[in-house]
Amino acid sequence: MLINKEISVKVPATTGNVGSGFDCIGLAVDIWNSLSISFNSHKLIIENSGVNNSSYESIKTEDNLIITGIQAVCPEFDISKIRIFSENTIPFSNGLGSSAAALCSGLLIGNHLNDNKFSLEDLNEKAIKIEGHPDNVTPCFFGGLTISIFNEENNKWITRKIDVPNELNIMVFTPNFISNTYNSRKKLPKSVPRSAAVYNISRAALLIDSLNKNDFTLLNEATKDSLHQNTRLEGFPEMKSIMNSAMDGGALGTIVSGSGPSIMIFSKGNEFTIDYEIKEAARKHNLEGSIILTKPSNQGILLSK
Ligand code: HSE
Repeated sequence: MLINKEISVKVPATTGNVGSGFDCIGLAVDIWNSLSISFNSHKLIIENSGVNNSSYESIKTEDNLIITGIQAVCPEFDISKIRIFSENTIPFSNGLGSSAAALCSGLLIGNHLNDNKFSLEDLNEKAIKIEGHPDNVTPCFFGGLTISIFNEENNKWITRKIDVPNELNIMVFTPNFISNTYNSRKKLPKSVPRSAAVYNISRAALLIDSLNKNDFTLLNEATKDSLHQNTRLEGFPEMKSIMNSAMDGGALGTIVSGSGPSIMIFSKGNEFTIDYEIKEAARKHNLEGSIILTKPSNQGILLSK
């Protein structure tokens, strides 16, 4: 077992679905949590600062996904001597993969403690099993835009990564309310009409083609969806109006990030106008929130000693 004095982990935010790729396509985003982990503490300490600044010294370990991840890979490790300090910029419970980020961090730390017994592919399998959302955990590990397919014969996930062109910008609008993925999924229909399936399959294929060719002209069409976004936006007409105003400002496409409530706006230029339009729409609807201007990240989670 490798126990260094201190290690660091940098873990990216992710957006699940990317509109048309419901439950299978995800994207890593250049917003990061930075963790420092030391192993000589007198007791288990987890401290957070930044966007999720709950600071506490004792926690229910079963509720903490970093600890879940460590124990899933290195069950023999005595977690009562670990101190984790996390500087967070990934908004919590907002559709930006904060749970996946915590779990993937734990798995990577556990693997380090276990002499890197497992490959990233193995860790990805474990993460999907625990967290349930390949469109968040896979880009978290590998960066870029990822496609995840479950192969029943081998009982294994197949993943592919596409590097996203650097000139693509992302604006994230995060409203000041949170949502719960589990509850939000319960509202989705159990089966869908064939036309809705075809609608998404064709657009997800177009999305991959657009990114492979570095051609964003059809990005709006490629990210449209008929499987989940409308249900998720029900009850939040102001979010739909913000998405429309971003398009009026010259965006290339807009999506609900994961299960929401954050939305993502793709752009290449016009960011100043889009920012203005979003803020105007939010103001008209009395909706408070924050905007982060960022980019996709082709780099996934990193551990340094
Ligand atoms: N594919 C998942 C969902 C992503 O839409 O519920 C959750 O972040």
